[in-house]
Amino acid sequence: MNTHARRQLTDAPYLVAATGGVPRRRPVWFQRQAGRSLPEYREVRAGIGMLESCFDPELVCEITMQPIRRHDVDAAILFSDIVVPLKAAGIDLDIVPGVGPVVANPVRTVDDVRKLPRLRPEEVGAVTAGIGLLLDALGEVPLIGFAGAPFTLASYLVEGGPSKNHERTKAMMLADPEIWHQLMGVLTDITIEFLQAQIGAGVDAVQLFDSWAGALTQAQYREYVMPHSERVFTEIAAAGIPRAHFGVGTGELLGAMGEAGADIVGVDWRIPLNEAARRVGPGKALQGNLDPAVLFAGPKAIEAEVRRIAHEADEAITLGAKGHIFNLGHGVLPNTDPTVITDTVALIHSLPAPL
Ligand code: CP3
Repeated sequence: MNTHARRQLTDAPYLVAATGGVPRRRPVWFQRQAGRSLPEYREVRAGIGMLESCFDPELVCEITMQPIRRHDVDAAILFSDIVVPLKAAGIDLDIVPGVGPVVANPVRTVDDVRKLPRLRPEEVGAVTAGIGLLLDALGEVPLIGFAGAPFTLASYLVEGGPSKNHERTKAMMLADPEIWHQLMGVLTDITIEFLQAQIGAGVDAVQLFDSWAGALTQAQYREYVMPHSERVFTEIAAAGIPRAHFGVGTGELLGAMGEAGADIVGVDWRIPLNEAARRVGPGKALQGNLDPAVLFAGPKAIEAEVRRIAHEADEAITLGAKGHIFNLGHGVLPNTDPTVITDTVALIHSLPAPL
């Protein structure tokens, strides 16, 4: 495995905010900051498949760097995808433009679960090589590695693709808990292996995306999902780098998602950060939570929303949150004007940093 000495970026606002210090400015980065909103992204991706790009170290480095050059954001997120470790392990799937991940043979039976491969670190060697290039290219900007959480990966595998209602996934979970936990166990192993590879290669933080966990009740989350996500956070804790946990529509799950073990809890736009702080409890940083659609509403509306969020974040800190990392409540929408993103970063940086 590619191992890299961990960098000491003691002044990086993202890392300072994540660990309870006072950052020199309010840190901001955006989920999906690398992607179709950028003309330079569309240009380098022309004629190259999404997954193919994720296994090309030079492209991984170039695409990850594009939003850093443009927007003055405080963190880079590795250009990859949550299905990359599944593909690398040998599962037949593709990312279809405008659709998302599509799995050739959905996982529905105990036999399907038994046949699932494990991930060997060398199978993501292209990803770790990309991280190596990035550590040189990034200078003082921290690099966030990531993985999909077991539940969100399970949903793609069981449904066979993106799903609105997750009905087959929930059916397996509720009707066949034993198979369900076996499946989640395998996916947890793959997720841990993928994150350990990125950590070994030198990423400065990691984020676990449980994007679809908001489809569950809190009781379902606690019984069928949380023990597995908790194992992910426990097994990577020794690295000592910030661990973030994010989902969409998770207002009712924030307490449980925090308990699963992250240092930073991502919050979507449906719930104010001060209320999120009450639900998460003290001792964790919060990340969020501008509605990505607000970036289409013009400078006045954007400024009003950014100021509201900063104000609620400051209150969250007085309620015990460790810090605030500004972000969107979900990813940058593909047709967002990139100059609006740059201006929004400048606006956030112009506000006083939270204490
Ligand atoms: O800047 C970043 O945030 C970096 C990279 C990133 C991508 N995917 C790149 C990508 C990250 C963190 C992801 C994670 C991911 N992938 C998640 C979790 C985050 C979330 O959005 O909730 C999920 C659910 C996926 C699965 C996935 N991959 C979807 C739903 C799609 C969109 C399909 C489409 O075409 O609309 C993808 C493809 C994908 N992943 C793209 C990018 C930039 C677009 C593909 C392209 O440009 O052709």
